[in-house]
Amino acid sequence: MAISPKNNFFLRALLREPVPYTPVWLMRQAGRYLPEYCETRKRAGSFLNLCKNPSLACEVTLQPLARYKLDAAILFSDILTVPDAMGLGLGFQEGEGPRFERPLRSEWEIRDLTAPDPWDHLRYVMDAVVEIRRALNNSVPLIGFSGSPFTLACYMVEGGGSSDFRTLKTMLYDRPDLLHRILDVNARAVTQYLNAQIESGAQAVMVFDTWGGALSDRAYREFSLAYLQQVISGLHRSHGGERIPSIVFTKGGGQWLEAIADIGCDAVGLDWTTDIGGARKRIGGKVALQGNMDPMVLFATPEAVAAEARKVVDAYGIGPGHVFNLGHGINQYTPPDNVSVLVDTVHEYSRQQLKP
Ligand code: CP3
Repeated sequence: MAISPKNNFFLRALLREPVPYTPVWLMRQAGRYLPEYCETRKRAGSFLNLCKNPSLACEVTLQPLARYKLDAAILFSDILTVPDAMGLGLGFQEGEGPRFERPLRSEWEIRDLTAPDPWDHLRYVMDAVVEIRRALNNSVPLIGFSGSPFTLACYMVEGGGSSDFRTLKTMLYDRPDLLHRILDVNARAVTQYLNAQIESGAQAVMVFDTWGGALSDRAYREFSLAYLQQVISGLHRSHGGERIPSIVFTKGGGQWLEAIADIGCDAVGLDWTTDIGGARKRIGGKVALQGNMDPMVLFATPEAVAAEARKVVDAYGIGPGHVFNLGHGINQYTPPDNVSVLVDTVHEYSRQQLKP
């Protein structure tokens, strides 16, 4: 199982080893901007059915790789499968985003919360990882992922998306003990979930801290970063003789780069608001960097897409440790042809720049 992929440039870049060109993948690369994804999703009946059916999850994972020369695949799933497995009852209303039937509000519900056994309640995710690895046949590496303990708590307490996190932040300031209790369970759940993905065949793992950037400096360190550290320190560092690199992405986390780089991860994901060259100067000797083109660039002309992609490659500069990505997930209305322009430009341009 642990045979290195033919194209292992993504894994090598994460470990800051030299590569012939900058590897690229895109957050949410399998999704609604692809007509073939929409077709499979229609067949599945719903987004959740798609996540819970390993063969269909495998099919959509491979769709972007059939179109573009991407250097990694990412497991098709969602961060909210973990709280769903805790019994909160996940649903997705058309055009409205996620909703939990039973958000965490009362003290007794929080006391009763437990980490789900990933081999039981999340078995379908492990089955998907195995099936995707088999289908990839060692062409490119497979990324496993999870939400961060804090980002999961946001959805679990709010019951869905939120613009101001009023319920969550009220708990944070009034009853920090309750929020710490949720975060502690989440950290154990996420660690076990990611380790199960690694044991099933995931060759790198990424933790999405989508909402950590909504916190004050002090609150971020206490309620998000501390639990990210707990997760990273509990992860398998290697499996079957291969190193398993980890990536931590806090959206809006530019001011905490040094602190994130210090928790023991191999790479830090950057959103588009931070200059990647400046970030490299701050922490480039310690970790690799992943990012960070504004996803909205993909709505511009192909010439503008290529020019902006070259700017990100130039901003990072020569030398190892860069995985090209967008600064956040690809937008659902993105024109698919612009993604080819992006991927090919990153490969060709970085190959010229990195040439000895
Ligand atoms: O990157 C990939 O291709 C892998 C798949 C992936 C999805 N969600 C598929 C998805 C990953 C890595 C995620 C992570 C995720 N999910 C995050 C963290 C990353 C981020 O974007 O900040 C968050 C916050 C979620 C929760 C979630 N899932 C929301 C808020 C939504 C609705 C938003 C929307 O765009 O409608 C989802 C649904 C979702 N997850 C879709 C996909 C392809 C769209 C669902 C559909 O097909 O209708």
